[in-house]
Amino acid sequence: MKTSRKFIMAAAVLLGSWSLAAHADKIELPALGASQQAPVSAAQSSREHLAQDAKCTRCHDENESKPVLAFFQTPMGVTGDPRTPTCQSCHGASLAHLRGPVNGKIAPPDVVFNKGGMYPESSASQRASACLACHSGTQRTHWEGSPHQVNGLACSDCHKVHSAVDPVRTKGMQQTVCYTCHKDRRADFMKLSHHPVPEGKMMCSDCHNPHGSVGPFLMKKATINETCWSCHADKRGPFLWEHEPVVENCTNCHNPHGSNIAPLLKARPPFLCEECHDGPHQSANMFGPGVAGPSTATGFSAIPGSPADGGVGEGCLNCHIMVHGSNNPAGAYLHR
Ligand code: HEC
Ligand code: HEC
Ligand code: HEC
Ligand code: HEC
Ligand code: HEC
Ligand code: HEC
Ligand code: HEC
Ligand code: HEC
Ligand code: HEC
Ligand code: HEC
Repeated sequence: MKTSRKFIMAAAVLLGSWSLAAHADKIELPALGASQQAPVSAAQSSREHLAQDAKCTRCHDENESKPVLAFFQTPMGVTGDPRTPTCQSCHGASLAHLRGPVNGKIAPPDVVFNKGGMYPESSASQRASACLACHSGTQRTHWEGSPHQVNGLACSDCHKVHSAVDPVRTKGMQQTVCYTCHKDRRADFMKLSHHPVPEGKMMCSDCHNPHGSVGPFLMKKATINETCWSCHADKRGPFLWEHEPVVENCTNCHNPHGSNIAPLLKARPPFLCEECHDGPHQSANMFGPGVAGPSTATGFSAIPGSPADGGVGEGCLNCHIMVHGSNNPAGAYLHR
């Protein structure tokens, strides 16, 4: 690793003077897929690429307080790939900056991504355009108008490009990036019952597309339920006897991020059920000892021990076990 980095630096320095003369004022944005249009050998591409970069790497390298060359260890930094961005593809031509310090002051590069650096950060749209030049479409089809775009985020608010590992795309690390702005989610995922995000087995982006979505809440799929079904296919049905709130929205009963009531429940039954159904069968009084309610016909009152006594009736799930839906011909009441 060390030697290859040294080599890159050496090559960059060697090619720097040539490059400054040859490409002083022009940058080209190699489009993704350009390799199909104009075949270039990996070696040639690599040479040209390093020559371009040398305009900047003659001053910015691993010896600086802000090392930048780890970019070449990322999938985006493959110099043998003609589509690979040069420093100027992202930071702009930056001709004034390239002139170096004048009277002890150096003009900023055209696009500055990092907050808290010595120059004010560029506008969100400038920063995003620098990336969208190559990365529009696909997952980012709905970036324009998405909650993140509208609220002034740009790509570099989540992505690190001068780092061998991009935390926001790495299991076990991604959530720490999201938590910097979504602190309440951290609290949710610390609760007793949660999707295994803190354990590094799942990511926020298994459910959300942070770039934009046709669905609500940046859901990966068009609806919340479709997103859940992509992993919990058994809850999809179709069921002979459906439970309306399940078909409507899983979050009627579940908190997708975390809850102290397992499994991810918004309230403990019977309270959960009673938010929509009044009381434990009270209206028909069918649990009253010796009271013949409408349920007698189905043999309900024959169940030993009246459910209303001792709070058994509260255990809705003891009987209504098929709360997500039933395929049993006699399962209209979701109890089989
Ligand atoms: C002549 C030397 C020189 C060249 C060439 C040069 N820079 Fe700089 N650059 C500097 C100096 C000096 C600073 C001030 C901050 C520092 O010391 O890092 C700076 C700052 C920056 C910053 C802001 C860092 C911050 O903390 O905000 C960026 C981004 C940057 N340069 C990118 C580039 C890019 C991209 C190129 C090539 C197009 C380039 N530089 C070429 C000398 C140079
Ligand atoms: C793919 C786009 C992209 C490319 C290519 C790129 N940069 Fe950057 N650069 C960024 C972003 C985004 C940041 C903000 C910090 C980060 O994301 O790591 C940044 C930050 C910087 C900084 C400030 C570093 C700091 O720690 O404050 C310097 C200096 C810099 N880039 C120089 C360069 C040089 C030199 C090259 C070419 C070798 C280059 N950049 C190539 C996107 C890019
Ligand atoms: C000049 C074109 C270009 C520009 C500009 C550009 N990229 Fe890329 N990016 C690429 C290429 C090429 C790849 C590798 C894609 C591949 O292998 O399919 C890539 C890959 C990526 C990847 C995925 C890496 C992986 O693991 O597959 C991320 C994330 C990324 N870029 C973010 C950014 C961000 C953020 C910016 C702006 C700061 C940016 N890119 C600007 C060309 C570009
Ligand atoms: C809110 C955080 C966030 C923002 C803002 C963001 N991204 Fe991403 N990006 C992610 C996450 C998380 C992933 C990993 C998604 C996955 O694994 O499915 C990702 C993946 C990617 C990838 C690799 C997968 C692919 O689609 O090829 C690219 C490229 C990329 N982002 C580019 C961008 C660009 C360009 C922007 C700005 C327009 C941007 N991102 C803005 C969080 C973000
Ligand atoms: C199992 C799927 C799933 C995972 C994993 C997930 N979310 Fe969500 N998220 C949802 C659903 C569904 C909603 C909308 C309904 C709700 O909030 O109950 C949502 C809503 C949100 C909202 C908007 C909430 C509001 O009230 O406005 C934010 C912010 C959010 N999620 C962030 C995150 C972050 C950050 C992570 C990772 C740490 C994450 N989510 C992981 C499914 C998920
Ligand atoms: C730099 C701050 C920042 C980061 C980092 C960030 N977000 Fe957001 N996010 C926001 C803002 C601002 C909003 C819009 C206001 C709100 O709903 O809170 C938002 C909204 C959301 C929403 C709700 C969308 C809606 O329709 O209500 C979700 C879901 C979300 N973010 C998920 C994520 C995920 C997942 C990550 C990490 C991959 C992430 N965010 C990283 C700032 C951020
Ligand atoms: C990317 C796959 C994936 C998606 C999408 C997904 N889940 Fe999960 N879900 C899991 C995994 C993995 C577990 C943990 C299973 C385990 O621990 O054995 C889980 C567990 C659960 C549990 C049981 C939790 C417990 O404590 O036992 C519930 C309830 C749940 N998910 C509901 C949902 C809902 C609602 C949605 C949609 C908002 C959803 N899931 C989306 C993968 C997913
Ligand atoms: C009417 C409330 C309600 C709705 C709506 C609901 N669930 Fe559940 N879910 C429950 C209850 C109650 C349990 C606990 C069942 C138990 O303990 O036997 C549960 C358990 C689960 C479990 C873990 C146990 C298992 O059966 O695998 C998963 C996963 C799950 N639900 C996914 C979903 C998905 C996906 C949706 C949306 C399609 C959904 N739920 C909609 C009430 C609901
Ligand atoms: C968000 C509201 C809501 C919640 C929470 C809810 N239900 Fe339902 N439930 C309904 C609706 C709506 C129907 C169908 C309409 C109807 O016939 O009353 C239904 C139907 C039923 C039925 C079948 C009754 C019939 O006449 O078809 C049973 C049994 C049932 N629910 C049990 C439960 C249990 C047990 C829970 C708690 C785990 C629960 N429900 C939670 C709204 C809800
Ligand atoms: C001891 C078993 C048992 C328990 C406990 C139980 N149920 Fe039932 N429930 C049934 C049976 C059996 C039926 C069929 C009704 C009939 O026979 O007329 C039924 C019917 C229903 C119906 C549809 C009839 C109606 O009145 O609309 C709903 C809704 C319902 N139960 C909700 C609940 C809720 C909510 C709880 C918990 C507070 C609960 N049940 C507890 C066995 C039970």
